[in-house]
Amino acid sequence: MKWVSCSCYVPCRWVGEEEGGSLSEVRARVGASHGITDLGHKLHFYDRWAPDYDQDVAALQYRAPRLAVDCLTQALPGPPHAALILDVACGTGLVAAELQARGFLQLHGVDGSPGMLERARARGLYQNLSLCVLGQEPLPSSEGTFDAVLMVGALSDGQVPCSAIPELLRVTKPGGLVCLTTRTNPSNLHYKEALEATLDRLEQAGAWERLVAWPVDQWELATSELEVVPRTSDSDGFISGIVYLYRKQEGAQVEGLRPSPQPPAGL
Ligand SMILES: C[S@@+](CC[C@H](N)C(=O)[O-])C[C@H]1O[C@@H](n2cnc3c(N)ncnc32)[C@H](O)[C@@H]1O
Repeated sequence: MKWVSCSCYVPCRWVGEEEGGSLSEVRARVGASHGITDLGHKLHFYDRWAPDYDQDVAALQYRAPRLAVDCLTQALPGPPHAALILDVACGTGLVAAELQARGFLQLHGVDGSPGMLERARARGLYQNLSLCVLGQEPLPSSEGTFDAVLMVGALSDGQVPCSAIPELLRVTKPGGLVCLTTRTNPSNLHYKEALEATLDRLEQAGAWERLVAWPVDQWELATSELEVVPRTSDSDGFISGIVYLYRKQEGAQVEGLRPSPQPPAGL
């Protein structure tokens, strides 16, 4: 059993085995994904991973979609079927499956990987799916469109940059909710620090208010022992994560909150 590499220099597909694989193989594959810090390579990796993604993350007991949807459901005013939801970095649609189970029916999704979007389309739960690379292009929606926006499992190095967060706020209705997750294992702490600085800056600017910051010890099984949080007896081979929930303020001005464009190199 071995990885085969393509042009992106990381292992992309198992060969010599039927779908799936042992837990140690899944760990190797997900660990490889965590190690990619270049967005283009990461999206390419997701394209190749898409057929195996659901079973791999199930093997790792990945709980983020359920935790995020639980958090959102408790705070959303009004009946779920009336809410228009955007699932950013929707992947294969695991968040949509959780939303549908709780009665949410109006679901839109965006993702930067055509392969992941194809899987999401096959799931048949989204009314609208678009290819969109966060950090490089705006979301394909008007200001104030959605009752709630979620982004689960995509806030880390090499994925969605913190600079894209105001774009999520822009498409959220005033008074609407934004639910975000990130991992809090040692290799993601640097990103988490930058993320929290962005979230706090937006709160200080009056764009939104924090409703929840929910640390979770058992987020998903660790891909390596170095990532396990030793501080609780509960961690038991898991890494930790956190769910954030924000409410967009009425009258929030998002335009001025976007990071300034970087000058071209050399100027
Ligand atoms: C770990 S998966 C999470 C998918 C889904 N939200 C879930 O929880 O199962 C991360 C997803 O984010 C997408 N992604 C990563 N960076 C992105 C970016 N900058 N713009 C759009 N999508 C991105 C990937 O293509 C992938 O589908």
